[in-house]
Amino acid sequence: LQTREGWWTTFVLYHGCWMDREAAMSVSLVRAQFVPRDDDVLLATYPKCGTTWLKALAFAVTNRFRHPVVGAGAGDHPLLTQSPHDLVPFIELPFRHIQPLAALDALPSPRLLGTHMPHHLLPPRVNELGCRIVYLYREPKDVVISTWHFMNKVIDGFSIDFDKAFELFVDGCSPFGPIWNHCLGYWNKHVEEPDRVLFLKYDDMMADPAGHVKKLAKFFRVPFTDEEVHAGVMEEVVRLCSFEKLSRLLVNSSGVVDRVGERPMKNSAFFRKGKVGDWNNYLTEEMAKKLDAVIEEKLKGSGLTL
Ligand code: A3P
Repeated sequence: LQTREGWWTTFVLYHGCWMDREAAMSVSLVRAQFVPRDDDVLLATYPKCGTTWLKALAFAVTNRFRHPVVGAGAGDHPLLTQSPHDLVPFIELPFRHIQPLAALDALPSPRLLGTHMPHHLLPPRVNELGCRIVYLYREPKDVVISTWHFMNKVIDGFSIDFDKAFELFVDGCSPFGPIWNHCLGYWNKHVEEPDRVLFLKYDDMMADPAGHVKKLAKFFRVPFTDEEVHAGVMEEVVRLCSFEKLSRLLVNSSGVVDRVGERPMKNSAFFRKGKVGDWNNYLTEEMAKKLDAVIEEKLKGSGLTL
């Protein structure tokens, strides 16, 4: 395996994707042992692109008949007391939030599952079975800022300065990076099978959250009825899953993600600012231009712009 000094430890290049050894081990385990089902829906993201938000929205939309967001029962909604990461587990383990594969096997169908794995590393059965995928990406300049802050919060002894982290990111060496390959892998699949792979952008979702909730419901084959629209269900899903609401809940402000055998990770690490364009506060003009140029070059001819 090719290795190099990464953000907090030596990173390994695992099938073209940079990650720490722990993540590489968990990805290889998932590839060998995870058993997909044809009605699984994967929520795929590059880290710090809005995974937590997408998990909350997808959970609220698909479970709204069991767990109403308006009227009687809305006060007992699971999102008020559980982290989106506990409600929608990642398939790769033991990276971050441990969910033994047996626990995933025990989940009832249809399962909502999260992943940071690039498309080409997904277990092949995921595509063979036609599992549907929602991919969420984000302006890369905001991603590098968010990643650096996140690592500062969660990695013991994290000491890399921002300039160095930025250079690694631009060079493609960041957790699950390069980001352009990650986006391109899912983009190409989306172009091939648009009905199976939904391709969304955090920044667009921020601009029109209700429109995206509607889109998600349609994709999950549980479109909103006229009655629901009149009752303001879409807006209530948006409100319940908003940064303002989720970040202030006790579970997310002081709880820890359920992990087995490792130090717990604070749920609050997943909530920082929740804004578009925070990179303006951190990147010099030169840095911004540099990253933009790399992204443009890497995506040339793909039809995708980030
Ligand atoms: P910032 O660091 O820019 O604030 P992920 O969930 O993939 O780890 O991404 C985390 C990013 O999404 C963080 O971005 C976080 O603040 C933001 N985020 C978390 N919950 C959100 C929500 N409900 N709505 C919008 N953004 C949210």
